[in-house]
This record gives sequence, C-alpha cells and structure tokens, in this order.
Amino acid sequence: MGADEAILEAPVARRLPDPAPKATVSVSVPAPRPVVALSPTLGEAASLAAAASSLEELREAMAGFTGSSLRDTATNLVFSDGVVGAGTMIIGEAPGAEEDRQGKPFVGASGQLLDRMFATIGLSRSENLYITNILPFRPPGNRTPTDAEVALFMPFLMRHLELARPKRLVLAGAVSAKGLLRTRDGITRLRGKWQQVTMANGQVMDALPMLHPAYLLRNPIAKREAWADLVLLRRAINDG
Ligand code: URA
Repeated sequence: MGADEAILEAPVARRLPDPAPKATVSVSVPAPRPVVALSPTLGEAASLAAAASSLEELREAMAGFTGSSLRDTATNLVFSDGVVGAGTMIIGEAPGAEEDRQGKPFVGASGQLLDRMFATIGLSRSENLYITNILPFRPPGNRTPTDAEVALFMPFLMRHLELARPKRLVLAGAVSAKGLLRTRDGITRLRGKWQQVTMANGQVMDALPMLHPAYLLRNPIAKREAWADLVLLRRAINDG
C-alpha cells in the first residue's frame, strides 16, 4: 500500500473528528390563512363576463370588477372606441396616461400614429374600425402588463370579441399577440402572416399581429414592416 516505513510502535488516528450533531430546534408554524375569500378570482371574472349579454353590460361588469388592483390606481376604465360591428377590430396592450385620462383607447401619441397608419388603407375609427385593449386599466407608470393581469382580464376580452363580432383582428404589439395567440414567440416572429385566435366558444378568428405603434415611434425604420402588414390587411378586407 506504499507504507514502507514504521515510524511509531502503534498507529495514530489522524482524521478530524466528525462535527457534533446540531441541536434540533422545534418551531411552531401558524396554519396558513385562507386567501380565496380575500380577492375576487379569475372564476369571478369569467362568470361576470359570461353574464353580460351586450357590450354595455360588459362595460358595466368590467367597471364593477374589483379583482385587480389596477382598478385602484386607474382614473378611468378604458373600454373601446370606434364603430361597433366594424369588420376589423384592433386589440392593443393597455391604456397609457392620456387614455387613462380620457377613458378611450389609443388617443395619445401612439394612437395618433395608429390613426395615420390605418388611414393609409382606408380605415378609421369613425367609419370602419373598432378598438380595444388587452387590459382596460392603465398599469401604474405604464409598465408592461404581467402574465397574471393578462390572464385575469382575458375572459372579458373573449366576451368582448363574441359580442362585437368582428371578422378579423389586428393584434397591436407583443402583449396582445402573445396573450391572444397563447404563445411565447416574439412579435417579430409572429407578424407578417395571418394567425388564428381560438375564442372561448371554440370559434376561430383570423388575426394579424403587428408591431405596436409606440415601438414604431421609437424605431421608425420598422415602419417598413408595418406597411407590409397594412397591405396584408387591406388585401384580406378586399377579399372579404
Ligand atoms: N398603447 C396601447 O396598447 N393601447 C392604448 O390604448 C394606448 C397605448
């Protein structure tokens, strides 16, 4: 074994002693308090949405829904704008400061760009466009909506689609596209081709993801892609 020399008469144990076992402490943990009763749930959002039989009832149900703290910090519910019954419905992300003040979607700087973009293909909210957002309340500081917020308001949006009955959707920006297409793919991958949104009742609706106008304001070079998408949209409208 390689030991070729005896130094002492008897062997010596040189390993460090094992550490003494730690004293066990017993802690008493209070039983968790039930949280279900504290906040309205996704189920409540779903049943409120399902009970609405008109857009006005849906707006009232959303205004009265206290299940999200976004309601506490917002000034106004932002429900929709444009022509009810229009064939094309735009779904944005969430109200910004100006939308929150006025209670209407897309009325700030990015909304003005959106209006100019859609006017180039003959669409306007006074004639043939209907507009809403994934979230009806402004997230504080214009932060990006969380996945949980998107999920919580989804039953209202699904009911909104059933009641407004557009022929096609435009999903403005990543939050809208990912939320409605239930994917983690980014908007640059999703845009440029028609996709399909499956509604709560199983019906499928054509949906065109586009870059968000706020992104286009920051990245004017990307207006090329937006223009290509507008051409796709116009073609689909022409084809009926
Ligand atoms: N951005 C959105 O996505 N929606 C609005 O209503 C305004 C800005």
